[in-house]
Amino acid sequence: MVVHQEPAQGKKGVIFSGMRPTGLLHLGNYMGALKNWVELQEEYDCIYCAVDIHALTTIETAEEAAQIQPNIEDMVLDWLAAGIDPERSIVFVQSHVPEVMTLHSLLSMVTPLGWLMRVPTFKDKVRQMSETEESVNYGLVGYPILQTADIILYKADTVPVGQDQVPHLELAREIVRRFNNRYGKIFPEPQANLTEDPLIVGLDGQQKMSKTLDNHLELAATPEETTRRVMTAFTDPQRTRRDIPGRPNVCNVYALHKTFSPPAEVTTVYDECVTAQRGCVDCKRHLAASINDYLAELRERRNSLRLRPGYVQEVLADGAAKARVIAQKTIEEVYSKMGLA
Ligand code: TRP
Ligand code: SF4
Repeated sequence: MVVHQEPAQGKKGVIFSGMRPTGLLHLGNYMGALKNWVELQEEYDCIYCAVDIHALTTIETAEEAAQIQPNIEDMVLDWLAAGIDPERSIVFVQSHVPEVMTLHSLLSMVTPLGWLMRVPTFKDKVRQMSETEESVNYGLVGYPILQTADIILYKADTVPVGQDQVPHLELAREIVRRFNNRYGKIFPEPQANLTEDPLIVGLDGQQKMSKTLDNHLELAATPEETTRRVMTAFTDPQRTRRDIPGRPNVCNVYALHKTFSPPAEVTTVYDECVTAQRGCVDCKRHLAASINDYLAELRERRNSLRLRPGYVQEVLADGAAKARVIAQKTIEEVYSKMGLA
């Protein structure tokens, strides 16, 4: 149980990371983030958060908002099935610890607007939402301040994220420096712990597996669903007939074999593909079997956790209670430094 702000005996530090609740996770989310979260529990005190307020920054209708609760449930069940251990780590929902919104407001007093407007992800989001910098909601502008508040509310020093989050972490460090300069050194400057991104390709030949592109494989799918989806995967487009040799290096099925099949099988796939001894249908069937093997244990755990009524909600209530103890202590400190005591 983690209820202290200094790392526990023998631990390297305090980790915080968050994911927006987008629902069921896919293999790309697992290999690019979740797997690393699980492993980090060995060496760090970890705090993992479903960032529902961040989700609201891009939500535009009540129907989308109504999806937040089921999405949290689906996502957190994936976390627990993957091996996030609520006995060792704090697992909670951002809005259950409202102190983060207090800290967000207070940090906004030390954050120049220009810093926020320059963040590349801000410009991308504005474009994606077909808004302008003038028309976009204020909450989206403050997204990185809320992310900073997430991290430093728990005085976390290490933040496992992908490359795309580096600008947010850089900004978090600048906000912390400014705060500490003005009001006294109370927060550590958080460091990114870059997740080595193994790049899980999509089933459609795209370079990245993504739910938005609908080229993904859900962790929670049944083996049959997984196989059915793998069978729709694009292969080498020049291989229009089975007797034409294939080019594994331009084929996403081969890329996925490299990640999920045993090394000996990967070699066989390569050799049989370039000599036209292997058909793509067969190749995909084998890939599906490898992926189903890879996920078998996770799925088994997920199915048994799902049968425990109220389990996820219990974990989250417990996580919020632990997180809140730390959060309230930090807020007291900040209040006092900022003249609000
Ligand atoms: N912005 C992150 C993302 O989109 C999610 C996030 C919110 C986060 N708060 C965080 C990540 C704090 C790390 C630490 O992936
Ligand atoms: Fe791709 Fe396998 Fe077909 Fe070769 S045999 S093109 S690796 S699916």
